[in-house]
Amino acid sequence: MTKATPQAGRPAAGQQGFHLGADIAAPSGNYRWVKLWGWPIRLMHWLAVGTMVALVVTGLYIGKPYFMAGGDTRDHFLMGWMRFIHFAAAAIFATTAIWRIYWLFAGNRFERLPALFPIRPRDWVNMVKQVKFYAMIEPEKAPHYLGHNPLQQLSYTGVYFLAMVMIVSGFALYGQSDPSGFFYKAFNWVGIVMGGMPVVRFVHHVLTWAFLIFIPMHIYLAVRADVLERGGVISSIFTGGRFVPAKHHFVDGEDLNE
Ligand code: HEM
Repeated sequence: MTKATPQAGRPAAGQQGFHLGADIAAPSGNYRWVKLWGWPIRLMHWLAVGTMVALVVTGLYIGKPYFMAGGDTRDHFLMGWMRFIHFAAAAIFATTAIWRIYWLFAGNRFERLPALFPIRPRDWVNMVKQVKFYAMIEPEKAPHYLGHNPLQQLSYTGVYFLAMVMIVSGFALYGQSDPSGFFYKAFNWVGIVMGGMPVVRFVHHVLTWAFLIFIPMHIYLAVRADVLERGGVISSIFTGGRFVPAKHHFVDGEDLNE
């Protein structure tokens, strides 16, 4: 008996079940590879991923220890290690934030401020079109962006804002242990502005859940785009570039359309 050979991108005849991306026709035609993200952005992204995971895991433990080690506390020093990892990760996380701010001005045109924050009128017009695309109202009118589309711009702006609040509130909490120290002097205003340190702690805790919601959404949307558009969007955060159909007009890629 001969086995059916599946066509590129199609499940073999008689194959049942779920085939990730297999029902979508394989891309064909003229594609080109465009370089989007430089190594500093890619490195910053992966440092942020690693430190964010460490911060969530250790932060939730600090707030409510979800397991205990047996034996004498002095021997395992579990909470001490959790706090040490939290603060070490916080230092790297804050460094990536400073680095990102610098790169808003020093990066390439896909990494700079105007490409990240929807500050241009055309981005707000395109945002409506993008929402209609996702809602399948007018999918054919979706604007094509090489870098971030306006909805991505808005959500990344939101995530960067959250990160800043986490950093500022975190350093305000950190400073409380030494009222004569640098961090107390530099960040104690946060408690005054927010209405007391219990509020700062509450905000720091609640926003952790915003990160926990963002992470799976971000991964889902990246996998979804990779599967539907077949442009290698996930590889772009490793290699720096992705494939795009040469015939598309890109809102942010004027010179590519010449
Ligand atoms: C994505 C970033 C971060 C996440 C998700 C996170 C998460 C958390 C959580 C859930 C807690 C426990 C809050 C509670 O008491 O219920 C916590 C505590 C704390 N975090 Fe963060 N955090 C982050 C960033 C930072 C940063 C940048 C700093 C800066 C130093 C920081 C410093 C602290 C401090 C000092 C505490 C209190 C520790 C203690 O009471 O011993 N955090 N964090």
